[in-house]
Amino acid sequence: MKYLDASSVDFEKSFQSLILSTLEPNKNVLETVSKIISDVRKRGDDALLEYTNHYDHLSAKLETLEIKKNEVEAASTEATPPTSVAADGKQVYDTGCVACHGAGIAGAPRVGDSDAWADRIGAGLENMIANAINGFQGSQGMMPAKGGNPSLSDEEIEAAVEYMVAELQ
Ligand code: HEC
Repeated sequence: MKYLDASSVDFEKSFQSLILSTLEPNKNVLETVSKIISDVRKRGDDALLEYTNHYDHLSAKLETLEIKKNEVEAASTEATPPTSVAADGKQVYDTGCVACHGAGIAGAPRVGDSDAWADRIGAGLENMIANAINGFQGSQGMMPAKGGNPSLSDEEIEAAVEYMVAELQ
């Protein structure tokens, strides 16, 4: 290991060159990579196969390196499909909406207060859902888009609004 002495006269110089040396790309790597690239350009698949086997310690053949269309298809049918979880309105409400709508903070219509909801429900569920997704400035206050949580999906907001409305009955 090399020690630098901050009090020595050429400290500044040694420090500079230490910093520079860590920034300079390894010359060997550059040389090797450009050799591989030009070789593959020249000799094509043969060179590719050679280098793959050399660096990845394989003994592959071209046929086995190529992933065939039917292999891709087989793999994708085997893979488990993403399970879509039905949005849980109560859960979304409990995490993203209750802060304002639980107690009726900042003009938010309180869940359970049917009077505060009557006109809104009169305007239609679709309208309320759109307002909850996009946010709006109403006469009572400001409803932030998705309650201020853009990571919630439209479906989750819809489920939460349905839950809130259902709680009124
Ligand atoms: C920062 C406080 C706040 C949060 C968090 C919040 N809201 Fe609101 N929301 C409001 C306010 C304020 C209003 C009323 C605005 C008005 O009418 O003046 C409102 C109104 C609404 C309405 C009525 C829309 C209409 O058409 O009248 C719905 C539905 C609603 N919010 C759904 C939600 C849902 C769902 C969430 C959670 C994802 C949520 N809100 C989170 C403040 C909030």
